[in-house]
Amino acid sequence: MSLYAIGDLHLHFSTAIKNHEQLTGKLWKNHEELFRNKCRTMLTGEDTLVLVGDHSWGKNLRECERDLQYICDLPGRKILLRGNHDMFWDAKKTEQLNELFRGKLEFLQNNFYAYEDWALVGTKGYCFEGPFYLDRYGHICGWDEEAAEHAEKLVGREAQRLKVSLEEAKAAGYKKFILFLHYPPTNILQTDSIFTRMAKEYGVSQVIYGHCHGASHFHDSITGPYKGVQYSLVSGDSVRWIPQKVL
Ligand SMILES: [Fe+2]
Repeated sequence: MSLYAIGDLHLHFSTAIKNHEQLTGKLWKNHEELFRNKCRTMLTGEDTLVLVGDHSWGKNLRECERDLQYICDLPGRKILLRGNHDMFWDAKKTEQLNELFRGKLEFLQNNFYAYEDWALVGTKGYCFEGPFYLDRYGHICGWDEEAAEHAEKLVGREAQRLKVSLEEAKAAGYKKFILFLHYPPTNILQTDSIFTRMAKEYGVSQVIYGHCHGASHFHDSITGPYKGVQYSLVSGDSVRWIPQKVL
């Protein structure tokens, strides 16, 4: 029995793919088939796969039906986190989604899931992604203050949601945590954030996140061991559609 993670499948069985340069390159060719084959060879019905958001391009459940069915048909237990593109998932209606997909998919938001004696906690997260202003040497020399201020509000809201998830797990007696985020825990300028501080404070062992696409973004945030916590980027293209073993 093992725990795996990956993110950002960006499925579009029923919808036209948006014209997005970073999501249509060589690494995305037949990625649905490639990933399904990897899962079928690597995972068994006993395993758990956490998908860290951006599951589908569909704007509502109807448009996502085939994409979510594809995920249902993968081997093992599937736990989904909300990504910035998951329009079908209203954060306030997670319970309804869990009801609708009972026995097939589990949706992680303001709750937690147990895996052996580990608590799987998480939220979408957020970090300021610009606009940044560059000087004539291409170095960042400033940023949009208004956008940065707005981002701080979103970071605060997501931190609160993460706290709910962690506290629920703690109240249920869990002492070991794996933390899943969709967004990276820090932006390209930060070495720390409320998410990295919470990971440390709660004694989280691993932080696993997605969202970063294209080789030039694979090191936008922390990877590897940092202040006693292991950080991993698992966006599908960054791991070439190979489910990443967490435990
Ligand atoms: Fe994505």
